[in-house]
Amino acid sequence: MRDLLVTLYTALKLRARPRGRRISPLASVRGDVHIGKYSYISSFADIRGIGSTTRIGNYCSVARGVKIMSSGQVHALDALSTFPFYLIDRSLERADFMAPRGDVVIGHDVWIGADAIILPGVSVGDGAVIGAGAVVSRDVAAFQIVAGVPAHPLRMRFSAALCAAIAASRWWERDYRELKPYIRRICGQGEQGIPEALRMLARTERTASA
Ligand SMILES: CC(C)(COP(=O)(O)OP(=O)(O)OC[C@H]1O[C@@H](n2cnc3c(N)ncnc32)[C@H](O)[C@@H]1OP(=O)(O)O)[C@@H](O)C(=O)NCCC(=O)NCCS
Repeated sequence: MRDLLVTLYTALKLRARPRGRRISPLASVRGDVHIGKYSYISSFADIRGIGSTTRIGNYCSVARGVKIMSSGQVHALDALSTFPFYLIDRSLERADFMAPRGDVVIGHDVWIGADAIILPGVSVGDGAVIGAGAVVSRDVAAFQIVAGVPAHPLRMRFSAALCAAIAASRWWERDYRELKPYIRRICGQGEQGIPEALRMLARTERTASA
């Protein structure tokens, strides 16, 4: 009953589209799920925060059919049966049939490709990319591209120095209104445009705080 109420509350809250978030009406978002500003969830995605919390950062792209799982989807492996008997016996508690994992934490500006599955307890760093159809069973580092089943690193998006500079800018904490004047620099100019975009953002920060 509590799960149902939390799910209804979260669904209404998210679908109100505060701060630019877009949740497809054909996506399912259930339980204790927190989605940052401007992130979008595409059709047929299934995002759960049941038995643990799922946090998705700002400016994340969650493609069609992505599944993010939580502890409520982990059946106990060490009992006589893995069957969730609470489904057929209301005197039993769901929590007694779960094998709790940690929370799922997806950073900022993460792109999760179509039909990828994020298993319970996994953390995905800022700026990471998850390939289409990947099954992510281990943590993914910031700015790492992973793909496959189980997901394995393909490469880093940028050099270590550039990753550090982007992380230090924390651009994803800004509202889009602040980014808009520099959007052509942020997108569409490839890797060469990034240092200049970061310099511009740093200057506006100084101006704003002066
Ligand atoms: C992961 C991804 C971003 C990698 O892009 P990329 O860096 O351009 O990768 P490449 O095409 O150069 O492929 C590099 C290698 O990874 C493999 N690879 C790429 N994507 C893969 C995937 N999703 N699963 C398994 N392997 C993959 C390629 O086969 C290639 O292997 P090889 O070196 O042995 O030939 C991309 O392939 C992907 O999956 N994008 C998601 C698209 C999507 O879901 N969009 C939804 C709408 S938003």
